[in-house]
Amino acid sequence: MPGESRNRVLSGMRPTGQLHLGHYHGVLKNWVKLQHEYDCYFFVADWHALTTHYEDPQIIAASVIDMVIDWLAAGVNPASAKLFVQSDVPQHAELHLLLSMVTPLGWLERVPSYKDQQEKLRERDLATYGFLGYPLLQSADILMYKAGTVPVGEDQVAHVELTREVARRFNHLYGREAGFEEKANAAIKKMGKKNAKLYRNLRRDYQEKGDQEALQVARALLEGQGNLALGDRERLWGFLEGGGRIILPEPEALLTPASKMPGLDGQKMSKSYNNTISLRDDPKDIEQKLRTMPTDPARARRNDPGDPARCPVFQLHEVYSDESRKRWVREGCTTAGIGCLDCKQPLIDSILGELAPIRERAREFEEDPQLVRNILQEGGEAARDVADETMDEVRAAIGLNY
Ligand code: TRP
Ligand code: SF4
Repeated sequence: MPGESRNRVLSGMRPTGQLHLGHYHGVLKNWVKLQHEYDCYFFVADWHALTTHYEDPQIIAASVIDMVIDWLAAGVNPASAKLFVQSDVPQHAELHLLLSMVTPLGWLERVPSYKDQQEKLRERDLATYGFLGYPLLQSADILMYKAGTVPVGEDQVAHVELTREVARRFNHLYGREAGFEEKANAAIKKMGKKNAKLYRNLRRDYQEKGDQEALQVARALLEGQGNLALGDRERLWGFLEGGGRIILPEPEALLTPASKMPGLDGQKMSKSYNNTISLRDDPKDIEQKLRTMPTDPARARRNDPGDPARCPVFQLHEVYSDESRKRWVREGCTTAGIGCLDCKQPLIDSILGELAPIRERAREFEEDPQLVRNILQEGGEAARDVADETMDEVRAAIGLNY
């Protein structure tokens, strides 16, 4: 039913290489937090990676297990969140296909990432059917679990928006039925006198006054109605807002605050800028990377004063240092009271300290990758259970159940 899935979170990540501190501060810490608050499904988007890496899929195969090790090492807990691989749940492909029947071509051509990425990744030929369908495959991922919340970065918000439109169109086309209003009224009666009255009042408050809270309360009321049949629940869910059943509920994007994690050169940390610290880099290498990191060019010599505002190292202090340490840097830098290596040392300590337990947790899985495979297998089973249910409803709604 749409109701209980409101508490579900779904997010995916493409397996295209090692994860770095940008992923950790931007995405993974957020997942770790969400796993305690929601029913989370996190998956490896290997088919999505294939849309851009179909010519060199080895990188995908080589990254799947390692990426999940990074998730686990960062604190994503398979006892709280289901972890799985997209291609282990072939239902995603079926739903993608069915959604493609109702999705106007223009909707896909207008998604900003379509043209952007084609420009950005010029060395790859992305004039493919699969790449155009990328955001729709993402819609299938999301709608399969009827996720209420989808944590994504800014660049993915348009994909969640498309998902909402596709869901609306699907429900409009396949949620309509003869005698909807009568069936909805009959279903209301099945809730009992008191709840029926409450439902009707809340629906009126929402429809006449646009009272969003009434809508939420009414949905919660439906969630609590254990004795309603699935079809009735979809009807009453849809009856709150309009004239049909809601088979695929619309998700909300939960915007992950843009990672402020700067790279070693002061630009955003990103593999394509070659300025990253990977989660499982060797401590010696990390220390070396930080020691050789560029500083304010004005400080050519130890005695030249500098300006933290012009220094990429200070951007790291913004992430890792409290006010008093930042004051120490500002003062020492502008008066040439400290050297750049002095300034970097506490950062080296903080970053190594942050990564030590991550590396420690990763080791167990590196030594026994079968552990990871077992986790993904269990997650895949749980995901397929949900997916089977959704596909039964979807096929039935279209009338593909002969
Ligand atoms: N497109 C996402 C990215 O590049 C990954 C992704 C695939 C995803 N399917 C998803 C994210 C569903 C959220 C929900 O980061
Ligand atoms: Fe940058 Fe610190 Fe050197 Fe100043 S002292 S230039 S902030 S590294």
